[in-house]
Amino acid sequence: MTRHLRTPAAAVVLALLVAGGARAERHQVIFDTDFGTCPQDDCYALMLALQSPELEILGITTVAGNWSLEQGTADVLRLLEIAGREEIPVYAGADMPLMHEPSEYARTTYGSWWSDQPPTAPPGGFAQKKVEPLGAVEYIVDTIESRPGEVTILAIGPLTNVAMALRHRPGLAGRVKRLVIMGGAVATLPDGAGNITPGAEFNFWVDPEAAKIVLRSGIPIDLSPLNVSRKSSFTAEWFDELVANPTPVTELIRDGGRLWEGAPPDAVVHMYDQIAVASLIDPTLVTTTELYVDVDSNPGISYGTSLGGPRLWPGAEGAQKMTVQYDLDWERFIRMFIERVGGPLR
Ligand code: BDR
Ligand code: CA
Repeated sequence: MTRHLRTPAAAVVLALLVAGGARAERHQVIFDTDFGTCPQDDCYALMLALQSPELEILGITTVAGNWSLEQGTADVLRLLEIAGREEIPVYAGADMPLMHEPSEYARTTYGSWWSDQPPTAPPGGFAQKKVEPLGAVEYIVDTIESRPGEVTILAIGPLTNVAMALRHRPGLAGRVKRLVIMGGAVATLPDGAGNITPGAEFNFWVDPEAAKIVLRSGIPIDLSPLNVSRKSSFTAEWFDELVANPTPVTELIRDGGRLWEGAPPDAVVHMYDQIAVASLIDPTLVTTTELYVDVDSNPGISYGTSLGGPRLWPGAEGAQKMTVQYDLDWERFIRMFIERVGGPLR
């Protein structure tokens, strides 16, 4: 183990690019998340983004998904304090999907987007840092309009905020540089089953109407569906390496515990939102194909299911082609992840 020799890889990457005369592309990012504190994947994903010099996080927008909007907002404010990144503004967004009414199934299946319980205190207590008075939808619209063609939206929760921004300001889609989405499951590619219903992935299932609006918006899209998530295998060994070097963040991660607590020692946890973030930092980490992808927003057994195909099919008229991730260089990804998230804070 050469942990004491660890060099902050992020700084090295940038230094090499500058020294080599290459102009590093620094992505200006709106980070849209259904945040929950670590070990939630959104928390790991945000830490990867904060520790990566290739990304400039302009603002964080929260949405109901894994947790209620209030819980997610409280947790992300606190994470920014723990990471020493209080300068990044946080804007609260949609507290409910566009149409999806919480059913008994929603209440008893994964996720508490439907909850109206007051938030519980994040680790270390509620943050001193406050949420911005401006709402997430207005923030997204203003930011994209003031920087046309420059801003990438990284969306790792239900797409409610993004859909509302697009509806709010016709023409906005043409000014978004790129959209990287963790969502969906594509049955025509390997490992394409859903994780909430047999066909539907969580983010798309929580707000299928929003997903459909966004996927048909015309914005250039990189889709990071469950197919690529299932190429990851985060084990106890990787976790131990991640938290070996004490920082406020690795202590939070360590205290958050292993997602597989109580599970057999060889249990494997997938990574989701972390891969979407990594693919923006280094697109060579993922293997992709170009597909038309659309979402079923009709009530019924396929609600929230995404379908992808190489050409349009009846009922999918209006769907758009996008870059769909389906494989991952896991070893290179996890090494980068541990180096950055487990390393000294920037
Ligand atoms: C997605 O759903 C959420 O639970 C995760 O944060 C991730 O964004 C995986 O289906
Ligand atoms: Ca998420």
